[in-house]
Amino acid sequence: MTHSPAFSSLRQTAQSLTTRAHVPFSGTPTAALLLLDNGEWIPGVRVESASYSLTLPALLNAFTTAVALERAVDVAAFVLSRPFRREEGLYVEELPHGPYEAWAEDIWIKSDYAADETLPVPTDALAPTRETDAILDAESGLDEVRTLFERAYVPSSHFPVAALIETTDGSRIPGVNVEHPDWGRILCAERNALGTVHSYALNDIRRLFLSCKHDADGTPCGACRQLLAELAPESILWMDRHDDAPAQTTVSDLLPGSFRGRALLDDH
Ligand code: THU
Repeated sequence: MTHSPAFSSLRQTAQSLTTRAHVPFSGTPTAALLLLDNGEWIPGVRVESASYSLTLPALLNAFTTAVALERAVDVAAFVLSRPFRREEGLYVEELPHGPYEAWAEDIWIKSDYAADETLPVPTDALAPTRETDAILDAESGLDEVRTLFERAYVPSSHFPVAALIETTDGSRIPGVNVEHPDWGRILCAERNALGTVHSYALNDIRRLFLSCKHDADGTPCGACRQLLAELAPESILWMDRHDDAPAQTTVSDLLPGSFRGRALLDDH
């Protein structure tokens, strides 16, 4: 445990993460960092969409990664690279594992830590990938995806969705759907995994495996198709069909003629 000087190192780390933000439209990078009880931390960056309202905010991106990595319960502090906006404070306040409270304009901490003004000593970033054998075929990818269902946080829908992104270097990144009392802040499994790839500055995306526990016809929603088209246009998708053979598709087949916002980029 350490006293408040640790806050300056957390702030520095949050600043250094801003280079990972994907902000081609605003040019305004934001990063978040979630410090865990054991000192490890989880990054989260702003990932913009040409369809602006589909943008992943840094804080949400970080928190949904924590859920997918089964560490949401361990979050000791939320740090932003700039001051919290009022709605970001509300977002943290409504999370299930608190209570958390504002500690500084850019830091919220679990109330347990606020009383004695201490926080865990920050160590390394939590690794998002798992050291397992290569995914040989679609079935083995989908077998792995199905192990992720229990990580989904689905008190509203009871509809767990799991995604697994494989990058070109063979890393695999989990994603699950993460619900929130404000449905506008719910994030799908596919976008959760996509956001994590950016937060960790990982390599290009090769394949995405997707399974809906209670739906053998599961397919990415329109919002996820949009983000996939923007962030992983060359990738292949394997969709679980339960007792039937998995279905393969590509991002360009899922959303032909997608909006990329090229005209929006001319100003930058
Ligand atoms: N959901 C996904 O995770 N991915 C999709 O492509 C479709 C919908 C989630 C969001 C929400 O938690 C629940 O399924 C019902 O929409």
